[in-house]
Amino acid sequence: MKILAIESSCDETAAAVVESGRTVLSSVIASQVDEHALYGGVVPEIASRRHCENIVPIVDKALKDANTPLNDIDAIAVTYAPGLIGALLVGVNYAKGLSMATSKPLIPVHHIKGHIASNYIAYRELEPPFMCLVASGGHSHIVQVNSYTDFDIIGRTRDDAAGEAFDKVARVLGFPYPGGISIDKMSRQGDGNAYKLPHPVIDGSPFDFSFSGLKTAVINLVHNHEQKNIPFDKNDMAASFQRTVCEMLSERLIAAAKEHSHTKIAIAGGVAANSELRAMVEAACDERGWDLYIPPIELCGDNAAMIGSQAYYEYKNGNFADESLNAIATKKL
Ligand code: KG4
Ligand code: ZN
Repeated sequence: MKILAIESSCDETAAAVVESGRTVLSSVIASQVDEHALYGGVVPEIASRRHCENIVPIVDKALKDANTPLNDIDAIAVTYAPGLIGALLVGVNYAKGLSMATSKPLIPVHHIKGHIASNYIAYRELEPPFMCLVASGGHSHIVQVNSYTDFDIIGRTRDDAAGEAFDKVARVLGFPYPGGISIDKMSRQGDGNAYKLPHPVIDGSPFDFSFSGLKTAVINLVHNHEQKNIPFDKNDMAASFQRTVCEMLSERLIAAAKEHSHTKIAIAGGVAANSELRAMVEAACDERGWDLYIPPIELCGDNAAMIGSQAYYEYKNGNFADESLNAIATKKL
């Protein structure tokens, strides 16, 4: 069963053809990152316009690369939530049009469920249940994956998402957008123990995160040094910030897994590309003899292959949409 999947929730226009949830026949991504980097972050209006320009050629390329004419596609899947509303609407409307014109079923996919599914592509043997950390530019969740389509949120951020904190701290340090990649790179030349940063805990919610206070602590440190003209090493600051975020994410994930008796762990989302987070979670799982699933870097960021994978399980669960499908900016898992 071949699904054509479309993703346009943020600044990547992506399309893919995925067979039976696990085999990627093609995956095409048009990234707008260079253009948004000029402004230090995603400009929603620009993102929507670029999606409009890119969507037709990107879908055509995905079909061509997969050697699959539209006629041979069994269903059309699209990310409908959450994300930038104008960006989502481009994908949703294009997918609806294609579905109506071809009389093929339309499958709505939640973006975060897609991120989790990136692991099904990387590991054909992986099946729920497992515990998954999803950390991206807009979300930081610890999710108990009960089945392919049933999830419980065990922990969540109370304020900023982890990726958002990476992006904001990078901006203050003068590193280029996207901040996560810059901080990851510069941290390799810094000392992660150079600065003691707060490790916020939320009373009564041991698996929740708070990154806003940590971000503000770094910003204050930087401003203090600058105002007093005290030199400081930006790489040390980046490394200390990264270490703290990764410790928070990794410790909460392991604690949540322990509490809910899981020994199968996965990570997903843009922040899952972080080298220190990957190493930390790997060491924690090795120590305990747990199974760890980490998608390759190219499946951590936004892509349509992960949407095509999740769509297969939505399809099997009978989750279809009709022409009334709308884009939704904020939607729980
Ligand atoms: O999943 P994603 O591509 O888009 C969203 O759904 O948000 O995640 C993007 C986020 C950005 O905040 C970016 O800075 C962060 O992932 N990111 C990283 C790394 N690569 C991307 N954060 C830390 N380390 C990285 N290597
Ligand atoms: Zn994403």
